[in-house]
Amino acid sequence: MHQHTHRWIYPAVLSLLVWVTAGESSRGQEPPKSPTTTPPASARAVRSTGTGLLLEPPLMLTNVTRAQFLEMAGTIGRHRIGRPWTQPVLPLPEPKSRKGQALTQTEVRDYMLEARRLFDDGESVPVSDIGLISTQEDVIRQPMLNHIAAFSNSVARVYLLVQRTATDRSWSYYSIVQDLTQRPVIDHFAELTRTGPKFEGTSCYKCHSSGPLAIHPNREDLVLDAGLAAALNEHIANQPLSRFHFPKDSPSPPPGKPLTLKACARCHDGEGDRNRLFQVHAHPIRVLVDFGHMPPDRRLKPEELADLKAWLSPDP
Ligand code: HEC
Ligand code: HEC
Repeated sequence: MHQHTHRWIYPAVLSLLVWVTAGESSRGQEPPKSPTTTPPASARAVRSTGTGLLLEPPLMLTNVTRAQFLEMAGTIGRHRIGRPWTQPVLPLPEPKSRKGQALTQTEVRDYMLEARRLFDDGESVPVSDIGLISTQEDVIRQPMLNHIAAFSNSVARVYLLVQRTATDRSWSYYSIVQDLTQRPVIDHFAELTRTGPKFEGTSCYKCHSSGPLAIHPNREDLVLDAGLAAALNEHIANQPLSRFHFPKDSPSPPPGKPLTLKACARCHDGEGDRNRLFQVHAHPIRVLVDFGHMPPDRRLKPEELADLKAWLSPDP
């Protein structure tokens, strides 16, 4: 009897699951989950750890429901987001023979425009979220909707960000192209305006100290496809060390002092994993440490926290 019940229920439950998943993905909402063993980085509980590093109270957007998030994110066009995927990074065609020379500005622009075209045509696999870093502090302090897609071939890693705040009407497009022909790799940043990519440096560097940033949603339910976010974050965490390219009309801001705290500099040293952090990067540092994302594997001890705080807010 027991066995019989099981045999009957099991396929029924399975087909119900299949039906639910298929229904969701055809509405462009929840794509099929990819199997993950450990909880993805981006799906970890996101809350302030009360370090006192934040300059403003943490903003949890408690009045934003998941349904509202999906509604706001969906105004980009439902067919463009929440798409099923097998590879988190979309392969781009290989260039014709090259001899190791750096990408030209035209090539960089073309990669940016191709990323935008693929997204607009509903052919990319973007992750959609309400981001943590840009909602905190005095930067935006309202829901910031992001769609992020990654592409690559043997000479370039290309990233696209399609973004708007909850109150904006239209979406803005940004891109990062990593030129893999050089060591260290060279990062190009641009806003994709109506007339084409406008290369920038000054403003982007304040947050993007090592090229593309991992995706960290404001809350664990404010991301569409946490499995895809985790896969992209792995791609980003394992990117080769890169150098920021500042266009002539958008130079490096004054960086301030480097962060030498061992708990950070052992990875952010400009040699192994990530580029050195400077005082100009105070904003992402405050947010990532306070929300427990950095260091990746532990919490800072009170003495370390005091050192970091002193470095962030030097006596005048
Ligand atoms: C206030 C900090 C901040 C500034 C300034 C900033 N970004 Fe970002 N950017 C982010 C964060 C945070 C993410 C990841 C968003 C998320 O968690 O969903 C991101 C993501 C991106 C992505 C998608 C790939 C990736 O890094 O994950 C691109 C492309 C991008 N930004 C381009 C730019 C460009 C170009 C500029 C300058 C014009 C710029 N950004 C300025 C914070 C910033
Ligand atoms: C074990 C190595 C490691 C340590 C230690 C570490 N980080 Fe990171 N950090 C990373 C990696 C990998 C990333 C990119 C992936 C991510 O953001 O999750 C990152 C990203 C960052 C970023 C975003 C800019 C970037 O490089 O992508 C900031 C800011 C940051 N870390 C600050 C800190 C601070 C402050 C500390 C010390 C309190 C610290 N990190 C300690 C490995 C480390």
